[in-house]
Amino acid sequence: MSEEMIAVENCSKKYGSFTALKDVSFKVKRGEIVGFLGPNGAGKTTTMKLITGFLAPSAGRVLVNGQEVTGESTATKALIGYLPENAPLYDEMMVDEFLDFAARLRHLSGPKAQKRKETVIKVCGIEGVLGKDIGTLSKGYRQRVGLAQAIIHDPPILILDEPTSGLDPNQIVDIRALIRKLGEEKTIILSTHILPEVEATCNRVIIINKGILVADDTPENLIEAQGSSGLLIALSAAGGSLPDKEKALKVLQSLNGILKVTPLRDEDNTSYFMVHSSQDVRPYLLKALIENDLYLMHLSLKQLSLEETFRHLTLDEKASKEENHE
Ligand SMILES: Nc1ncnc2c1ncn2[C@@H]1O[C@H](COP(=O)(O)OP(=O)(O)OP(=O)(O)O)[C@@H](O)[C@H]1O
Ligand SMILES: [Mg+2]
Repeated sequence: MSEEMIAVENCSKKYGSFTALKDVSFKVKRGEIVGFLGPNGAGKTTTMKLITGFLAPSAGRVLVNGQEVTGESTATKALIGYLPENAPLYDEMMVDEFLDFAARLRHLSGPKAQKRKETVIKVCGIEGVLGKDIGTLSKGYRQRVGLAQAIIHDPPILILDEPTSGLDPNQIVDIRALIRKLGEEKTIILSTHILPEVEATCNRVIIINKGILVADDTPENLIEAQGSSGLLIALSAAGGSLPDKEKALKVLQSLNGILKVTPLRDEDNTSYFMVHSSQDVRPYLLKALIENDLYLMHLSLKQLSLEETFRHLTLDEKASKEENHE
């Protein structure tokens, strides 16, 4: 098996005249767990359907294990386990029956099918619901059954479309642990709106916005690239009064390595500023403040979260400005 499990090459997808994906390219290596992020309608599900062969790209191509995905390509489909959005399951089927059905769909039969069934039942923790109708299951158990059908043929690749959506916090923790366990031996792409999930589970993040890929990196690098060294600084003037804001801004902007200084609120005769820099400015800060009769009332390092990075990358300019004025 090749090291490069998935290659999406210059893929575009049109629905009628609407372009849902524009020239998207990325690769996933064996053993990676990739978090696929984007606002509603960004094109996550569409991309996943291109990889699984449920949809054909309007332009570009997808390779799975070096082979091009086409509607008929059973070879690439056999390598993939797919948990679609809102796992469409047969509500009137019993869980046990449904797993038999899923095994048959994957051309498994006899003792081999039985063995795989036993394994996925154990891995997904659904021993207790085998005799229940799928329609009567809680959302968390539906998701487990969805995962069980996705891995019944022991595929090396898993494509999971919002596997934790709609689950309660306990169920989320359970499913996340399950995904992490599966990730020990499989290549996984999972889409989610839960950013801490990505930071906790994934070694890579791909962010898509309005059909365009806007980021592809490790969670740490992404946060770093947005200017992670944010310092929250509060200043006052001599005598404990509100400082001259223009002057304070100029002093901060003159520090070595400054990228951006954002004035924030005024509170209790102090003005707050957020300072982003390419290097640590703390060693020079006090000297500059003293020379300009400014008093340091507060200083703290503010670590940018993946959530903020995501918002920077996916909110358009106007929305982002409106946000900052709040
Ligand atoms: N069958 C379709 N026909 C027409 N437009 C579609 C179709 N499927 C998706 N779209 C549109 O394509 C865009 C991308 O949809 P997609 O489902 O891929 O987004 P998504 O990132 O998965 O969103 P969500 O987070 O809401 O699941 C959306 O604007 C959607 O309305
Ligand atoms: Mg979707």
